[in-house]
Amino acid sequence: MKVDVLLGLQWGDEGKGKIVDVLTPQYDIIARFQGGPNAGHTLQIAGDKHVLHTIPSGIFHPEKINIIGNGVIADPYILSQELAKLVIKGVDPRVNLRISKRAHLILPTHRMLDAAHEQALGEGKIGSTLKGIGPCYTDKTARYGLRFGDILSSSFIDKYNQLKQRHLNILKSYNFDHLVQLIDKISFAEYEKNWFAAVEELRSFPLIDSELFINKALAEGKTILAEGAQGSLLDVDFGSYPYVTSSNTITAGVCSGLGIPPSAIGKVFGVFKAYCTRVGSGPFPTELNDSIGESLRDHGKEFGSTTGRPRRCGWLDLPALRYAIMLNGVTDLVMMKSDVMNSFDTINICTGYEVNGQTVQDLTFETLSNPVTPLYASFPGWKQPLHGIDDFGLLPQRLKEYTAFIEKDAGLPVKILSIGAGREETIIK
Ligand code: GDP
Ligand code: IMO
Ligand code: MG
Repeated sequence: MKVDVLLGLQWGDEGKGKIVDVLTPQYDIIARFQGGPNAGHTLQIAGDKHVLHTIPSGIFHPEKINIIGNGVIADPYILSQELAKLVIKGVDPRVNLRISKRAHLILPTHRMLDAAHEQALGEGKIGSTLKGIGPCYTDKTARYGLRFGDILSSSFIDKYNQLKQRHLNILKSYNFDHLVQLIDKISFAEYEKNWFAAVEELRSFPLIDSELFINKALAEGKTILAEGAQGSLLDVDFGSYPYVTSSNTITAGVCSGLGIPPSAIGKVFGVFKAYCTRVGSGPFPTELNDSIGESLRDHGKEFGSTTGRPRRCGWLDLPALRYAIMLNGVTDLVMMKSDVMNSFDTINICTGYEVNGQTVQDLTFETLSNPVTPLYASFPGWKQPLHGIDDFGLLPQRLKEYTAFIEKDAGLPVKILSIGAGREETIIK
């Protein structure tokens, strides 16, 4: 069998978590392949809201195995808090969650370094989620990192102290006083204590060679869905660098993040909102700093699932969408949140950019590095609630036309349309 992939085509928060939960019944295994607790994936099941950061979004289906793959980085403390929340909700993750021994550990000092880097950047800050993502992936590539498999070793504490000391030396050069800084409103010492308690708890958790587990499952005919975090425009190679995250968020990341060959990739579900959002700094050609942008934020409840920050909002950007579709080899489009624009009189879609008097159709190094003027096609709004619609044919004609325009431009069908946060508010064509 193949590994299907589901990932974001914009700047994250497209609604990946919801769709993974909806598709999970079709798969045996759900696996996260990159990113860490910078992610916030929201599921709404029977009116109850759950936000997952490190744990795959198939976890509410007890008969399905969920894997935190080798490409993921995880903070044991944040993970243990997530696990505890699931237990309160009646889910026992010990039954169906597995963690790769090769997944890297985010240390408390990685979070300190993240804060120090951001502080030093001042106005030019990336707008990181401050979960230690950049510093942890830096240590991974620099070959200093610690992995989940290491927590089983008797020399773990020595390795931890060595890496911590390295971080403290760097923090000193930033004039960043680690002793007085708080993480998540608690002192460093307290965070470190909680972190070690979490490591202790995870020592008895199913830690596995996930690449062997996954390849064996494929050979046995099992079906796997790889769940992306962040979005294609936050990819470290192809996103709006340096305002990106530190991992490969695109389909290519699935191979290295789970240990599967490219020939094992099957369908690629590309998830996008019917408009655009971004949280953190960096270019956003179609951003609306006006009442329409505010209206998108209000109706779409566009506040970060991880940090609570207001998300920047704007119109759908087709050059950016085409670019993401190309990078990922998308086979099936998934359009989210069209319901947010139910009351809009006019809806715009960016079809290209004007740069120095020239029209440009592609997202390029230059269009992502310099100010550009978006060129828009305008559509009349459908001005109709979508609640209760469960068939594509019953959607308002104007929404069908809006969708058809995107499909024609992308050269791909929209196979799933989400019209609300709830599991059931999903139309599958
Ligand atoms: P993810 O990071 O890609 O999983 O997305 P987030 O969970 O960060 O953000 C998506 C937000 O939109 C969440 O609050 C979801 O509950 C919500 N949501 C998902 N799909 C829809 C939809 O079709 N309509 C509306 N109104 N909200 C949605
Ligand atoms: P999900 O999986 C939206 C953004 C941050 C910042 C940049 C770098 O929920 O879609 P980092 O903490 O990774 O160093 O931050 O990337 N960012 C996200 N934005 N959704 C996410 O995840 C994000 N993860 C990181 O806001 O601009
Ligand atoms: Mg999110």
